[in-house]
Parts: sequence; C-alpha cells; structure tokens
Amino acid sequence: MSVEPRTITVTGGAGQIAYSMLWRIANGDVYGKDVPIRLRLLEIPAGVRAAEGVVMELTDSAFPLLTEATVTDDAAVAFDGANAAFLVGAKPRGKGEERADLLANNGRIFGPQGRAINDNAADDIRVLVVGNPANTNALIAQHSAPDVPAERFTAMMRLDHNRALSQLADKLGVASYEFENLVVWGNHSATQFPDITYATVNGAPIIDQIDHDWYVNEFIPRVAKRGSEIIEVRGSSSAASAASAAVDHMRDWIQGTESWSTAAVVSDGSYGVDEGLIAGLPTVARDGAWEIVQGLEINDFQRQRIAANVEELKAERAAVANLLG
Ligand code: NAD
Ligand code: LMR
Repeated sequence: MSVEPRTITVTGGAGQIAYSMLWRIANGDVYGKDVPIRLRLLEIPAGVRAAEGVVMELTDSAFPLLTEATVTDDAAVAFDGANAAFLVGAKPRGKGEERADLLANNGRIFGPQGRAINDNAADDIRVLVVGNPANTNALIAQHSAPDVPAERFTAMMRLDHNRALSQLADKLGVASYEFENLVVWGNHSATQFPDITYATVNGAPIIDQIDHDWYVNEFIPRVAKRGSEIIEVRGSSSAASAASAAVDHMRDWIQGTESWSTAAVVSDGSYGVDEGLIAGLPTVARDGAWEIVQGLEINDFQRQRIAANVEELKAERAAVANLLG
C-alpha cells in the first residue's frame, strides 16, 4: 500500500542551516524511510532565486522519497497543508552580539508566519522554531495561531542538549548515546542550564563521577556559550550541527523517544517555569507528542539556575508584548 506524502515547510530555504537540513529531510530522516516528502521552501523575495538553486541541487540528488520541492515568498502557499514546519529563516547574530539582540528585527517575522500556519497548515502541524531568539520567536508564532493547539509550537534546544552530551562524553570517555536523563533547562541563551543532576551512564549517576568545580565553572558555561565559540572560531554561526539537531528534534517528536531529550515546549507550570512560557524542559516524546517529565526533585542550585532563565524569558516576552496578539 502506498504511503501518503507529508508536506514539510522550511523557512529560510536559501540559508546556511537549510543547506544542510534539506538533504537530511529529503533522505527520509524525519518521517522515516518509507514516507514520501513534499518540500516547500519559504524565502523573502531577495532569497527566492538562491532557494531555487537549492531546489535544483535537491533535484539533482535524485532522492527516492522527494516527490516535490518548490520555492515561494508567500507564507500562505508555503504552509498550505504543512504537516511539519521548520522556522529557520531569520538573521543570525554576529560576534559580540547576544541572541536577544536579534529580537527586535527577527521577532516580527514570526507573527505573520504563525498566522499563515493557523490558516493553512494541516491539522497535525508540528512547528519547530530555530531562528533566534528561538524560544520567544516560538512564543510569538504560537500566540499568532489561536486555532492550533499550543503544544504544536516548540523551539530548538536540542543543539544545546547534543552539545552537553558531547562534552560529557569527552570528559568521561563514554559514547554520547550511553547517557540518559540529561536536560538543558530554560532559554536558548547564555543563561541556559545544562543539568547533570539526574544523568546516568549505564544506570549509574554521573554527578558523583564529575568534579563539581568542572561542572559549574567549565561544563555549564562551555555548553551555554558554545554558539558564541562557534561564531568566534568559524566566523559564522553554527549551521550543520543546528540542522542535525533540528532533524533530531522533529524525528523524535514524530517517531518517539526511548529516553529523555530536551525540547523547548510550552510550560505547564512545572518546576517554577511559568505556564505558557516556551522553555527547555526534560521531555520524552510519546504517541506524537512531547511530554514533560514530571515529579523530579529540584535542589536549591537547580532552582536558582532555572529561575534565572524564567526571568530572562519573561523579560523577552515583555519586550514583544505588542506581537503577542
Ligand atoms: P542565514 O542568514 O544563512 O539564512 C537565513 C535565511 O533566512 C536567509 O536566506 C534569509 O533570506 C531568510 N529569511 C530571512 N527572513 C525571512 C522570512 N521572513 N521568511 C523566510 N525566510 C527568511 O542564517 P542561518 O545560519 O541559516 O540561521 C538562521 C537562524 O537560525 C538565525 O536566527 C540563527 O541565529 C538561528 N540559529 C538557531 C540555532 C538554535 O539552536 N536554535 C542554531 C543555529 C542558528
Ligand atoms: C547556536 O547556538 O549555535 C545558535 O543559536 C547560533 C548562535 O547565535 O549562537
């Protein structure tokens, strides 16, 4: 029996993240190797021609699952019937900038896109916001789509999660897939809190194997500032690793996870994170939905770190109050 194609929309189709991500999507890495894909790329008018060149290259790759790939500068067309949307199109920061500095310019992109999703996407639409500052941009899009269940809007903190895993793997000499129960709380910003309190390797807690000074003074800031480090060394912001993390997030959301991951999801008020904020939380994906891991004990150190993120997210929300229709 033939499988119904899924429509995946990627904004910023001519950008550097899309240039890595589209090949993974077309390869079946999101919905699985038996699901045909229709790709819709959204660009600003100035980016349409370059995105058409990207589609030429995708076509030249002869992916068996890619039934269609089109480019448009019309959000209504781009999100028409979309089952999954990667909202990537936004300006990246440069050296010396924080992601929140992008809010004034990038924030205004996400209201119109949220409305276009509301009016045109398929009933099962899942949205992942990658464009920075991702958590608050996701909040803007979600508020602009009142007919779409709020939990269908998420922001990307999987890159932070993957960075934390790889730092720990390097430190302990263990493969990254052997870690469980890691979480990166809060905002995709320098305040984020990569938390090893519950993390295990082969069922054994790692907190006792890790030097506390290394954890607090090296690991946490290294992960939280890795985006800046990449910009400093590479000269432009992370792209292939961001694309890979975006695919990980959407694949897990659709296909499910066996253990914890970090997704920035709409908070239910757990762990002192105000209900409605979009924050990195410990999550598992079951039956096509992210669920927040419940019932964890939080110590004072964790509480302070989480609270700093909540304050920052509230300040970002206040700064875009005019966009939260
Ligand atoms: P890029 O400049 O290479 O590409 C961005 C593309 O988006 C451009 O082609 C541009 O024309 C397009 N664009 C701009 N406004 C648009 C709009 N309204 N609609 C559709 N397309 C639009 O940037 P990039 O390196 O691909 O990064 C994109 C965003 O992702 C940046 O904001 C960056 O900071 C962010 N990012 C987030 C994470 C994360 O972990 N959340 C990681 C890496 C990068
Ligand atoms: C990252 O974490 O690499 C991205 O958010 C890009 C950036 O500005 O740091």
